[in-house]
Amino acid sequence: MKFVITGGAGFIGSNYLHYVVNKYPDDEFICIDALTYAGNYNNIKDLSSMSNFKFIKANICDREKIIDIFKQEKPDYIINFAAESHVDNSIKNPNLFVETNIIGTMNLMNAARIIQDEGIHKIKRFHQVSTDEVYGDLPLDRPDLLFTENTPIHTSSPYSASKAGADLQVLAYARTYKLPVTISRCSNNYGPYQFPEKLIPVVISKALKDEPIPVYGTGENIRDWIHVYDHNVGIDLIVRNGKEGNIYNLGGHSEKTNLELVKIILKELNKPESLITFVTDRPGHDLRYAIDSTKVEKELGWTRTYSFEEGIKSTIEWYVQNQEWIDDIKSGKYKYSYEDNNEKE
Ligand code: NAD
Ligand code: TYD
Repeated sequence: MKFVITGGAGFIGSNYLHYVVNKYPDDEFICIDALTYAGNYNNIKDLSSMSNFKFIKANICDREKIIDIFKQEKPDYIINFAAESHVDNSIKNPNLFVETNIIGTMNLMNAARIIQDEGIHKIKRFHQVSTDEVYGDLPLDRPDLLFTENTPIHTSSPYSASKAGADLQVLAYARTYKLPVTISRCSNNYGPYQFPEKLIPVVISKALKDEPIPVYGTGENIRDWIHVYDHNVGIDLIVRNGKEGNIYNLGGHSEKTNLELVKIILKELNKPESLITFVTDRPGHDLRYAIDSTKVEKELGWTRTYSFEEGIKSTIEWYVQNQEWIDDIKSGKYKYSYEDNNEKE
């Protein structure tokens, strides 16, 4: 089977590719990525020696190029990780989030329809990697409440609104054009290769350099943390065995306030809590995310491998061992690694 994986040079996509390219030697994996500021070819460069892996630099907003790639490659499965993924950036530049996250997703589905309508190839599944943020937030004083797949969409940020817009289009394409789709909605991921704009790599990289750690507002906001490996195992199960037209929630069952999380990391790194610096709150800051994953557990037998304690320890260890990876990103050096190894376009 042939898989097109978009956004595979980013955090979750690159971890996904490392998981599946090795696990399924008889399947082919084609990574499409525009290598935006968040896409790092170094994250997947080691896979280029594998015979079942190919990288194509392309933007999902480039409608014609995506159609050409699909005509040429005839994918059976399309898994869309590509997105603008950072809430703070969406507050500064919301239009870009609509272009990439909604129009880009529609371009991929349109290309799948075109190759089908022209009798070239029929896809088996289009999978949209979505987020629990489409449900909005939960109050801090109701720990009994969790997001289920039936929780109404109620977005807060331009990021979550763009992801919800994409989800609605995916469901519309399923109903209107009978496109075989699934959607996964996951909570906050952590693990290796996460771009140092998100909370956990920000805290680790700043703590390692004894720099102040910015905590937004009071630090009481709650996130449900999941190791990226467990998220990707869930996506793989849903893509292969999930019911067409269905949404599946994936959560870490590991809620922490931001302040608790920062303190855990500082303790592990043996750094003082005096590095914590409270800064102006994020506008519209979601209070609490918490996910009910019962559906994917019962229907598909999904389980988590990592406890939060093990996962955060191994993640911190990875960043300690790979400080060059973050230094390269900060210096902008990584941007040229793909071009250095390939023909200039
Ligand atoms: P990321 O920002 O680390 O990576 C995004 C990747 O998409 C990058 O490689 C980037 O180059 C690529 N990309 C961006 N725009 C593109 C375009 N127009 N064309 C082609 N490629 C493009 O993001 P991530 O954290 O790995 O998130 C991956 C997906 O998972 C996203 O869809 C995100 O919404 C979703 N998600 C993330 C989390 C999380 O905690 N990070 C949680 C739930 C869901
Ligand atoms: P983030 O990693 O940006 O993920 P998301 O906003 O998608 O949940 O942020 C996680 C939480 O950490 C969120 O409540 C905002 C907060 N935060 C800080 O307090 N300081 C920071 O420097 C960052 C990046 C986030």
